[in-house]
Amino acid sequence: LQLGEKYIQPETKEVNGILVTKTMSENWDNIWNFQARPDDLLIASYAKAGTTWTQEIVDMIQNDGDVQKCQRANTFDRHPFIEWTLPPPFNSGLDLAEKMPSPRTMKTHLPVQLLPPSFWKENSKIIYVARNAKDTVVSYYHFSRMAALLPNPGTWEEFLEAFKAGKVLWGSWYDHVKGWWDAKDQHRILYIFYEDMKEDPKREIQKILKFLEKEIPEEILNKIIYHTSFDVMKHNPMANYTTLPISFLDHSISPFMRKGMPGDWKSHFTVTQNEEFDKDYQKKMAGSTLTFRTEI
Ligand code: A3P
Repeated sequence: LQLGEKYIQPETKEVNGILVTKTMSENWDNIWNFQARPDDLLIASYAKAGTTWTQEIVDMIQNDGDVQKCQRANTFDRHPFIEWTLPPPFNSGLDLAEKMPSPRTMKTHLPVQLLPPSFWKENSKIIYVARNAKDTVVSYYHFSRMAALLPNPGTWEEFLEAFKAGKVLWGSWYDHVKGWWDAKDQHRILYIFYEDMKEDPKREIQKILKFLEKEIPEEILNKIIYHTSFDVMKHNPMANYTTLPISFLDHSISPFMRKGMPGDWKSHFTVTQNEEFDKDYQKKMAGSTLTFRTEI
């Protein structure tokens, strides 16, 4: 895998039944033994849940709304993605995290049972962001088409089936959102929803502020809402992933900042796909108190 070279499909492997890239699986012992620190903040999510958005909000909060400071580096360099492993010479998330001075803010897509146990031991704060399954699978499909580092999604029909079966990177969405939902009662986890952020960003940013034990003036809060809106982030090169080479992410296939709207699934699911999805969803989510909104 070389910059500018035609990309080779990544091989995948399972770690404890969860699909990951082969390079990640080979680095698994190091990932599992990662040393968290008590003042770490971890932003956790299933892929495509609004992670980047949450990261930008958190960075703006931590930097008191200083836009320039938030443009010091790309999202992925500001917040190490702990399990993400690339072949040398590229930095892995672990390398970045270990080099980073405290207090660190990091990102993960790991399901709760695969989170390095030191996070629990050190009682690090965690923000988990969740997004409804239908918009998640649509976003994940388009991202898989444009991201050479992810397995090829195949057709929409094929990807939808793979998603329902949990045979995609980071495993089953259903188990992921439920697993973290259950964990929130035992740990310092703030569980938030993409749809709520879209509906009322002020209210959700205030929840994050409270969780981070931080107070800011109203004027800075408004600045954060503006700077982290979809349209502004879409044009922010330090947040929209356009600084990566085209051989990694090809925004001409589908931009990273694609639609940013709850309910976009309606332009992808057929009536039959929707009915089948709902039926399967009821089964998989039965018994959980966790509920989602598929539109706002
Ligand atoms: P869509 O593909 O539906 O547009 P992640 O950061 O977890 O990979 O999630 C990416 C998804 O979040 C994409 O969804 C992206 O457009 C959306 N997103 C990113 N920034 C956003 C923002 N500021 N407001 C709303 N959605 C945002």
